[in-house]
Amino acid sequence: MGLPGDGSATSVPGCWIRRSRKHADRHDRCTVQATDLVSTATPREELPMHKLLVVYTTYDGHSAKIAKRIAAVQEGSDCAVELCDIARTIPQHPTKEYEGVVISGPLQGGKHAPKLTQFVSTNLATWNELPSAFFSVSLSAAGGPGQQDDATRCLSDFLDETGWHPDSTSTIAGALLYREYGFFKRWMMKMIVKRAGGDTDTSRNYVYTDWDAVDHFALEFLDEVRAKTLFAETSAGTRIPEVLSD
Ligand SMILES: Cc1cc2nc3c(=O)[nH]c(=O)nc-3n(C[C@H](O)[C@H](O)[C@H](O)COP(=O)(O)O)c2cc1C
Repeated sequence: MGLPGDGSATSVPGCWIRRSRKHADRHDRCTVQATDLVSTATPREELPMHKLLVVYTTYDGHSAKIAKRIAAVQEGSDCAVELCDIARTIPQHPTKEYEGVVISGPLQGGKHAPKLTQFVSTNLATWNELPSAFFSVSLSAAGGPGQQDDATRCLSDFLDETGWHPDSTSTIAGALLYREYGFFKRWMMKMIVKRAGGDTDTSRNYVYTDWDAVDHFALEFLDEVRAKTLFAETSAGTRIPEVLSD
């Protein structure tokens, strides 16, 4: 595991953050109704229903929360979304069932979970064929430019390692969940974060996630799925809904 850092402090590749005040006080505001988030560009009754898969790994639960938010936003935009924690279930025959997949997980020690690497590698042909998106959750993504570069590099390393070429990628700022950690983990995280000049009040949690950016990512990916499906249908000579062909 690397050490925290920021633009002014030493930045160790692969790791960590200094907190961004901009996000630090945004406590978990994951309360928006999915139906409030639907894109209004095309009347929803004209859009075909898409079936999507949202896969995640998580250690402390925050990446699960982000994945659930993405699924809720897409469901609110008339998609059928299956949410899957790969620690519990591995989806079978994904190409036959889904028109797009979102895969995600957090960084620990500058890497994504071996289970996630294995999952992506095992089904690589499928992920490279389907419209796909990957988001990487970390504290580095909540830091200054140096840390954000680290987060991006870890994301690229994951893609290089697996050989996956998703259509969209994003680094998403995670959370420092002191209240959920056990004694040793809390102490260790505090030490690491302190060195980076980050948030060290262990009597509370810090959520750095920009939920608006999460919603945007979810809807933007949905637009890509719709565009690709439309292209495939057009190439196959299928009738295009009038509202989309204007
Ligand atoms: C033991 C541990 C190691 C971590 N290592 C890193 C790391 O190397 N780089 C980073 O940017 N964030 C790191 N983080 C921060 C997590 O990526 C962040 O807390 C994320 O929100 C965790 O998501 P989860 O709740 O889904 O597990 C670490 C967190 C913990 C608890």
